[in-house]
Amino acid sequence: MILTETNTKELLNDLDWDFAGSKSETIHSLHPYPAKFISDIPRTLINILPIPKNTLILDPFCGSGVTLIEAQKAGINSLGVDLNPIACLLSRVKTQPLPVNFLSTAEKIFEKCNSYRGNISIPNIPNLDHWFKKDIQVGLAILLKNINSVSEGSVSDALKFCVSSIIVKVSNQDSDTRYAAIENTWGKKDVFALFLQVAQKLQKAKDSFLYSTASSVLNKNSLLLKKTDLPQKIGLVITSPPYPNAYEYWLYHKYRMWWLGYDPINVKEQEIGARAHYFKKNHQTEFDFMDQMDSLFTFLSAGCANEAFICFVIGRSKIHGRIIENENIIAEIGEKKGLKHITTIERTIKSSRKSFNLSHARIKEEFIVILQK
Ligand SMILES: C[S@@+](CC[C@H](N)C(=O)[O-])C[C@H]1O[C@@H](n2cnc3c(N)ncnc32)[C@H](O)[C@@H]1O
Repeated sequence: MILTETNTKELLNDLDWDFAGSKSETIHSLHPYPAKFISDIPRTLINILPIPKNTLILDPFCGSGVTLIEAQKAGINSLGVDLNPIACLLSRVKTQPLPVNFLSTAEKIFEKCNSYRGNISIPNIPNLDHWFKKDIQVGLAILLKNINSVSEGSVSDALKFCVSSIIVKVSNQDSDTRYAAIENTWGKKDVFALFLQVAQKLQKAKDSFLYSTASSVLNKNSLLLKKTDLPQKIGLVITSPPYPNAYEYWLYHKYRMWWLGYDPINVKEQEIGARAHYFKKNHQTEFDFMDQMDSLFTFLSAGCANEAFICFVIGRSKIHGRIIENENIIAEIGEKKGLKHITTIERTIKSSRKSFNLSHARIKEEFIVILQK
């Protein structure tokens, strides 16, 4: 079938976008990430939308890299951008081939950690004793000392992915989404064993991947993207932006960042939508969000090839009691930049994907806004 503007719109509107029975693939379930895409969303958009030749797929808020994996499966080059270094670590590890010596290196590190008898210095991390038992602090410090001595970048990234995935589990934090301290029964040796288990699972999950297309990941504030950051013109944008008062990605990954040597406070300051910006004197409002999206769309519309598509998956926000229709903000900004608004599709958010803030505001749906250059 030749796709025209009218039948593309019909095709998009006729699909069931709830994907109620969808299951997360192993590669995406090895490390938690808040508000992660279900793979069906980017996969369906990539399958339906006619993408201009010799272009790439861009996700300017790539998070855990779901769009990038779907682009790889479809044989299309991709670029992911995210401010959060944990997001970039996950996206890099998922999209790059796993070096052949990865698992043997993880096994050697496991052995070395178990027989480590020397002193170890514990990093200076705020409030560490509240969230990590002394024994766990020692375990994590020994593990990271060994990992930091690995010089090969892609092996080191994959090893850090494995540590990052267990940090909340071995802490006193109740769960990834509950910031209450609980009594934790893990010990130092469990830290090493859990690390090795994730390494084995990662190896198994990666065995079935083929890497025929180029995928790169940029750790950058998307509002500062420049033309020179794009190796090719954009043919399709698939993204789910952060939006006011929904999630706090920096907070979710705060201790992962501290342990891996990144600066969560710098991430917090630049993170779009972070609750902290909406709950202080002279707090931000939806107008700040509009300005941020306006500047992003200036970059996107210039970087897109003619007839490229831009798809934003976005929910509504509640700011000091007012519901903000972010989907309309995106559609209006797109049109202001000369893009065609093809359609806006409504879908139900699975309750397991909802943040505390969204549940609290009784927000049950999100929208897929589709624009074309
Ligand atoms: C809804 S999540 C994306 C989830 C992603 N679709 C996935 O499947 O994992 C939004 C992302 O925007 C990122 N982010 C927030 N502010 C940013 C900024 N100024 N520049 C780039 N990324 C930012 C957050 O770190 C987070 O990973």
